[in-house]
Amino acid sequence: MALYSETVMDHFQHPRNVGEMEDADGIGEVGNAVCGDIMRMYIKVDNGIITDVKFKTFGCGSAIASSSMATEMIKGKPIEEALELSNKAVAQALDGLPAHKLHCSVLAEEAVRAAVKDYYDKNHIAYDPAMFGCDSCAHEHDHAPDGE
Ligand code: FES
Repeated sequence: MALYSETVMDHFQHPRNVGEMEDADGIGEVGNAVCGDIMRMYIKVDNGIITDVKFKTFGCGSAIASSSMATEMIKGKPIEEALELSNKAVAQALDGLPAHKLHCSVLAEEAVRAAVKDYYDKNHIAYDPAMFGCDSCAHEHDHAPDGE
């Protein structure tokens, strides 16, 4: 059996929504201290709907595929739905990731959440800080690859 699904390979080789966004309403940048990969996610929000998403990922193929898939999953969705995007949902949509690569999909979930948090902060929208964990954790998460 191939290590990576066809969907992973497709999103790695033809990533969707790559790039930067000059007029982004929210930008989230996260990194994994263990592997050193960095992901930046840009969102454009109109009336509570994510109308556009872009990402830049300095990282492994699974991180690129995960960010690409995450952008597709939140584009056109209400911002609250983007907050519910889990790394499991991203990995499932990719038809699975090897166990030692699941942390790459965690990075995508975190980047989306960080972008939403940035949007809330910039627009002075009140939220429960518990939704995002502590501030410093949002930037330098140390996700040891787990076997889940
Ligand atoms: Fe760290 Fe993929 S190896 S994000």
